[in-house]
Order: sequence, then C-alpha cells, then structure tokens
Amino acid sequence: MKVLVVGSGGREHALVWKISQSSRVSKIYCAPGNAGISKMAECISIKAENISKLIRFAEEKEIDLTVIGPEVPLTKGIADEFEKRNLRVFGPSKDASQLEESKIFAKEIMLEAGVPTGKCEIFEDHDKAIQYVKSQPVPIVVKADGLAAGKGVIVAKTKEEAVEAVELIMVKREFGKAGDKIMIEECLVGEEASILAFCDGESFIPMVTSQDHKAIYDGDKGLNTGGMGAYSPAPVVNEDMMKTVSSQVFQPIINKMKEKGMSYKGVLYAGLMITESGLKVLEFNVRFGDPETQVILPRLKTDLIDIMESCIDGKLNEACIEWKDETAVCVVVASGGYPGSYKKGEKITGIKQAEELRDVIVFHAGTALNREKSLVRGTALAEGNIVTSGGRVLGVTALGANIEQAINKAYEAVGKIHFNKMYFRKDIADKALKYLC
Ligand code: AMP
Ligand code: GLY
Repeated sequence: MKVLVVGSGGREHALVWKISQSSRVSKIYCAPGNAGISKMAECISIKAENISKLIRFAEEKEIDLTVIGPEVPLTKGIADEFEKRNLRVFGPSKDASQLEESKIFAKEIMLEAGVPTGKCEIFEDHDKAIQYVKSQPVPIVVKADGLAAGKGVIVAKTKEEAVEAVELIMVKREFGKAGDKIMIEECLVGEEASILAFCDGESFIPMVTSQDHKAIYDGDKGLNTGGMGAYSPAPVVNEDMMKTVSSQVFQPIINKMKEKGMSYKGVLYAGLMITESGLKVLEFNVRFGDPETQVILPRLKTDLIDIMESCIDGKLNEACIEWKDETAVCVVVASGGYPGSYKKGEKITGIKQAEELRDVIVFHAGTALNREKSLVRGTALAEGNIVTSGGRVLGVTALGANIEQAINKAYEAVGKIHFNKMYFRKDIADKALKYLC
C-alpha cells in the first residue's frame, strides 16, 4: 500500500521510520519531510497546511492512507476534506480537533465530562483579566485560548509577570487571534507526564507513558520550547494511575465527544500534572507528541498501519497492541539561540557515527540537504551535506534495558554529532532516576 505522511519534524521522521517497517507498505511519501526522512520516503514539496494540493497529490498517486502529523492541518479540517473524497486518513475531524485548537473548548468539555483539571476563569476583556490576576495569589498561569506553537502558556511567578502576560497576549497580540480570549488557571504543582491513546470514536487503547522536557535549560529553567527531550516509560505514572487516566480522562472524553456528534478518531494526547491530590489534565493535543513519538514508537512492536486502520474502521476493540519492555530516551539537539533566533545552514557531522551505535536512532527535525554541494557531488546524503534548517535539529533516541543505559547510550550518540553552536540539555530523563531503588 502507498502511504503519505504529512509534516516535517522529528515526529514525522519517527512515523515514517515505523511505517517503513510494515510489510504492507510498498511506498511512502512525505510532505514536505526533511533530510533524514528523504532516506526512507519520497519527500514532496507541499506544505502541511496546503490541503487542496495534498488532496490532489493523494488522488493522483492513489494513496491508500494519509497520516497527519501536526495539529494545524487537522484544525483546518484536513481529515474532513480527505474523507469527503473517500481518501483514507488518520487524524481527527475539524470539530474534534477543537480539543487542541481552543483551550476554552477543551476546558468546557472536561468540566462537562467530569475530568479532573485545574480551576480557571475565562476573559475576553483585558482590563477585567488584569483586575482578576491582581486579585489572585501567585504563581498563576495565563493561557492564550488558541494555537500558539506551544508558546501561548505563561506561568507567572509575580503579579507583575501575570499582568505582562495578559498584555502580551491580549494587547500586544503576540499570538494574533489565538489571544482573542484567555484562560487564567490555578498553578498546579507536581510532575508532568504525557499519555497518548489510539482512539476509534468509541473505544481507545492507551500507549506506553512518556515525559517531555519543555524548558530550554537544565533543571526545567528558561523559556518553554517545542520539547528538548523525552523518555518512556514515565515512572511517575504507576499502574493504578494508568487505570485512573483511562476511567477518568480518556473514557469520559471519548464518550462526551461522541455524544456531541464529534466522535474522536486518531491519537488523543493528554498532558497531565500528577499533583499530591491526584492527577489533573493540563491540555489535550489531537496528534502524536513531539518528541514523545520519538520514544514511544521505538517501543511499539505492533504494525502501526494495522493500528491506524483499526482506528479509522472503528475496530480498535479487536486490536492487540504490543510494546517492548525496554526504556527509550530521546535527547533533542537544537540550534544555539533556540527558542529565540538562531542561525540556519550549519553543516552537521557525525550522524552516521551516532547511528552506527546499537539501539540508537537519529530522527531528523530541522535538517535540510545542502543542495549546491549535493548536486555537484551527486551524493545527497553524504557526510557534511546535511545542514541545520530549524530550531530543533535532531532527536537522538536510544533504547536500553533500563533508564540509566538508555540515558548513557543517548548521550554517547549525541557526543558523536557536531555543528556550530549546537545545544542540548544534559539532564534528559534524570527525573526518572529518582524512582530507581
Ligand atoms: P499546556 O500547553 O497547557 O500543556 O502548557 C504548557 C506547559 O505549561 C505545561 O507543560 C506545563 O509545564 C505548564 N502549565 C500549563 N498549565 C499549568 C498549570 N495549570 N499549572 C502549572 N503549570 C502549567
Ligand atoms: N511535546 C509536546 C507536544 O507535542 O505538544
């Protein structure tokens, strides 16, 4: 079968990598993809948001399944448009994607469904929002309602910071229309974990647990990023808690969405805070997480295409999903300066040496081919022909028998890779070490 993966980051490389292992798949296309993806899929220069072009491509090439990586095309209704033309697609509908598109929509659904989550107030008027934050204890969390590439949440430590956050979102309009409304939420204290589930509209199967590292610096300091690393499993989520997540989060949300005529099909990602008084949902995403996917899929034994088809066909209750016992750690290698401004076009070396290590996979995110050089030499993926083209450049994943082995292997692999101003966190997965005894 022919598969099209939409997107260009580390998550999409992990999806293409896993899909390429399916004996049912004869050809993979990726739109637009990146340098690493081009080793295992044909990359086509169509942007992930260009729905009409993607449809034309899928029709022309008779694609059997299209898998959507990022949230933006989903919130624009790519799944609905594909389905209208009888093209099979993996990802939720436009209506269902509101769970990520609007934090206020997600909060309302959670409250209606009785899902544990933080208390909040919603504002459309910035003066009222400022008056409110001034009257509240700090820290407090200010969230733009809409999509803001992971940057629309500000955890304010002082009242001044809280006022600045409201002004940034509602007056300076830093995130444009995403800041028409804001949500001001109580600050929850605890350890975070991500739990993703495959959903078929009626039932769901949770994946193995994982934990992301959102802040740029070690010790979770500094600005939030798209994610600087991840590990799986996340020992903060024990078996009992996993049962609670199923019964108090996924089942009620799936039921509520169905009841509202927005049946949820695809991957549902619950971002959780494990507090002293139990778990609370911070957010939902309507897709695989990045970089969580880079630690989850290397642990998946089952054919991903089979699972995706079960979701589309409403047959997840017949599916059996198997996972490897091993631990996975992914260290994200970024361009110095990220999440602020950074230079692109830096030559990357050592990827091959890193990949030669056992149980190491190097997922590309912001990489591109140095076209001039590859045309001259005709060796597109040769050493030195890959250059940086984004903030998060690579996700270096290692599998190990335990967390310590996986950490050591991942950092050994990162040590082989070089480019000018390369930056990575040195403490990925250290949080998991405290559970060892
Ligand atoms: P979100 O996009 O809602 O997951 O928020 C991004 C990050 O902000 C989360 O991963 C948390 O680290 C932090 N965050 C969001 N909501 C809260 C909250 N209510 N209390 C504490 N931290 C939060
Ligand atoms: N890792 C966070 C996200 O994918 O949104």
